[in-house]
Amino acid sequence: MTTTITVCETCKCADWDAEKDPQTDGEKLAELIEKAAQGSPDVTVRRHACLMGCDFACNIAIQADEKLNYVLGKFEPTADDADGIVAYATLHANSEKGQVPYREWPQAIKGHFRARLPVLDGE
Ligand code: FES
Repeated sequence: MTTTITVCETCKCADWDAEKDPQTDGEKLAELIEKAAQGSPDVTVRRHACLMGCDFACNIAIQADEKLNYVLGKFEPTADDADGIVAYATLHANSEKGQVPYREWPQAIKGHFRARLPVLDGE
């Protein structure tokens, strides 16, 4: 089953300066995640405006039907963070219920979880 990474494309880190660079940090992170996910059949990427976690930019969500879903934040628009997010999404896609053992978590996602959402009609 495919896991979707939803990237907030309007996120701005605390030091964002529109005059220096009008591209938001969320747009930059989305580009890096889209690049990192190329060739990953288990992961899709989409962009969305504000996920309502602005103080914790950059924010993303990890979602799949009938699995635990997650919101993560405090990412930087770096290749390391993008690679870690895609690696985690791949593990999520290959898990039965969206639970990935902590020992398998990529280092880049540790400390970034903001919320875990249970399956709507699940346990
Ligand atoms: S702008 Fe990204 S969560 Fe609000």
